[in-house]
Amino acid sequence: MGRVTAETTETTQAITAPGTPVHGAVADPPWWADAVIYQIYPRSWADADGDGIGDLPGITARLPYLRRLGVDAVWLSPFYVSPMNDAGYDVADYRDIDPRFGTLADADAMVAAAHDLGLKVLVDLVPNHTSSEHAWFRAALASPPGSPERDRYIFRDGRGSEGELPPNNWPSVFGGRGWSRVTEADGRPGQWYLHLFDVTQPDLNWANPQVREEFLSVLRFWCDRGVDGFRVDVAHGLVKREGLPDWHGKVGLYDDVVSEEGPTDGPGGGEDPSVLDHTATGASPMWDQEGVHEIYRGWRRLLDSYGEPARILCAEAWVKPEERLARYVRGDEMHQAFNFDFLETPWDAAALAAVIESSLRVNDEVGAPTTWVLSNHDVVRHASRLGLEQGGPRRNGVAADDPQPDAALGLRRARAASALMLALPGSAYVYQGEELGLPEHTTMPHEARQDPTFHHTGGRVVGRDGCRVPMPWAKAEPSFGFGPGDEPWLPQPEVYGELAVDQQEGVPGSTLELYRTLLRLRGDLALGSGSLAWDELTGEGVLAFRSARADGSGEVLVVTNAGARPLALPDGEVLVASGPLGDDGVLPTDTTVWVRPARG
Ligand code: NOJ
Repeated sequence: MGRVTAETTETTQAITAPGTPVHGAVADPPWWADAVIYQIYPRSWADADGDGIGDLPGITARLPYLRRLGVDAVWLSPFYVSPMNDAGYDVADYRDIDPRFGTLADADAMVAAAHDLGLKVLVDLVPNHTSSEHAWFRAALASPPGSPERDRYIFRDGRGSEGELPPNNWPSVFGGRGWSRVTEADGRPGQWYLHLFDVTQPDLNWANPQVREEFLSVLRFWCDRGVDGFRVDVAHGLVKREGLPDWHGKVGLYDDVVSEEGPTDGPGGGEDPSVLDHTATGASPMWDQEGVHEIYRGWRRLLDSYGEPARILCAEAWVKPEERLARYVRGDEMHQAFNFDFLETPWDAAALAAVIESSLRVNDEVGAPTTWVLSNHDVVRHASRLGLEQGGPRRNGVAADDPQPDAALGLRRARAASALMLALPGSAYVYQGEELGLPEHTTMPHEARQDPTFHHTGGRVVGRDGCRVPMPWAKAEPSFGFGPGDEPWLPQPEVYGELAVDQQEGVPGSTLELYRTLLRLRGDLALGSGSLAWDELTGEGVLAFRSARADGSGEVLVVTNAGARPLALPDGEVLVASGPLGDDGVLPTDTTVWVRPARG
C-alpha cells in the first residue's frame, strides 16, 4: 500500500499502490450508471414570460443548448405548486405546476422536447415535508389532537405544565426551533408540530400508511407522464427515532456563527439560536434511521415495474460515513446517491485521492456506481469555493463582508476539479452555470436575499442565494438574456455578462468549450464505465490515475496537479487540458490533463 498524507485534514489516508486495480470497468452499463446529469434550477435557468422567474417554456426553448453541451439527462429542482418559502421545496400540490413556472401541459411539452433531443428527465421528489399550504396540513390544523388528519404529520403535546415547551430540543436546519405551536379551535395554544426545515415545511409522519400510499401514487403520476427518475430530497430524514428523544450530540453546522449571538428573530426563531446540522453523524435521532430503507425498497419495486430503460432514484442524503451512504444504493434500493464527501473535500491531492478510492470501494461493495458532484443549489459554487482559503467545508453562502474568494484561482481550480470529476468512473451531476465557470454572487445586497436560513438566523448564516442567481445567456440583453424582463428574482453580478453563453460559445479555451470537449471525450473514451488504478505520478500534490475499458483497451491517463510546483507532462498525446499548458512541456499547478499514454 502506498501512503499519502492529507495535510489539510491531518489524517494519514492510505490509497492502493499504483498499478493495482482500485475499481473495475463495466461493460454495457445501464444508462444511469455513467450518465452526466445537468441540474436545472427552474427559477434561474430561463425566463420565457419576463416576470423575472424562470419557467418551463423557457427551459423547453433552451434544451438544445444541453444537447450541444453533451449531457445525458436533466434534473429539475421542484416546479410544483408552492408558496415558495423555500424556493419550491415547500410543496403544496405534488401533482400540479406552480403558475409561476407554467402548467402541466408545459411540463409535458418539456419532457417530450427533452426526449426528442435524447435527454432523460429527472424531477425532484420532496417526501420529508409538505408545505403548510398543502391540503393535508390545512386539514390537520382544522382537526383536533389525536385525529387521523393530524396523524399524517408529527404533532405532539408540549412539555411543561401548560404544554408551553416544545416536545423535544431539536432545532431546525434553517435555524431556530424545530417545533411550532398551533392555536386550537377554542383559540388556546395547543399542540406542537415538527418541522426540521422552515416553519412552513411540516414533517410528514412516515409511520402513517396514507403517507406511504400517497407518495407511491405521486411516483406513479410522474412516471405515467414520462419522467425517467427522481432526485429524492432529504432522503435520510423521513423516519425519526421512536419516542423523538432529545438530541445532545453536535447540533449546529454553524455553531461558531450563531451560538454566541443570542436569540434568532426569524419566524421559526424564538429563544433557540441553534441551527440543526443536516448531516447524519453518529446516533442523531432525526437522520439516517433504519426505517428509511424499507420505503426505498418499495419505491424501487414500483419503478422497476415500469420496465426498461430504468426509471431511477437519486438520494440527497447527507450521511456519514460513506459506508452508511452506500446502504442507500444497495441493489434493491436507490440507483444513485450524491457523493457529498467528494464535494466537501478541500483542494488537496492526497485528500481527493483518498475520498475517490474510498467512495469507489464502498459503492463497489454494494454493486453501485459512484455519483460525483461538485456544485448544486445548496452549496457555494465550486468556482468560488476553491478560491477561498482551504480548510473546512463552505456550504452556506459568502457575504460581502466575509473574506472574498480569489476568483482567478477559484476558476482555475474549478476547471481542474471538473476535468477530474468528469474522468472518474460513475455518474456525475453538473449544476447549471458551472459549465460557464460562474462564481458565487458573494456581494449580493442583504435586502435581496430570500433564503429562509438568512432570515431565521437574523442574517448570521448568509444562506444559499449566491449560488442560485439567474443564468447569463447573452451579454448585451436585459438580465443577460435570462428573460425579457429587467429584474430577475435575484440580482446578477456584473461579471456574469463576461461569462454569458454568447461570450464563450466557439471561443477556444472558454470554460463552456472545455466542458463540451470533456463531455464528448468522456463519452468517446467510455470513462464513466472505465476502470481506475492509481498511476505512479501520484504523490506530493499530484493525483494521477489510469482508466481503461472492460477489455483493457483505450487506456487514458488523467493527471491533476493540485500541488505548488509545475510537473513534467507525461509522455503521450494530450487529449484535453483544463487550462493552458506550459510551452516547456509542463503541467502547471491547478490543472488537470487527460493523456493517451505513449506505448512503451
Ligand atoms: C434539500 C434541498 O436541496 C434544499 O434546497 C432544501 O432547502 C431542503 N432540502 C429542504 O427541502
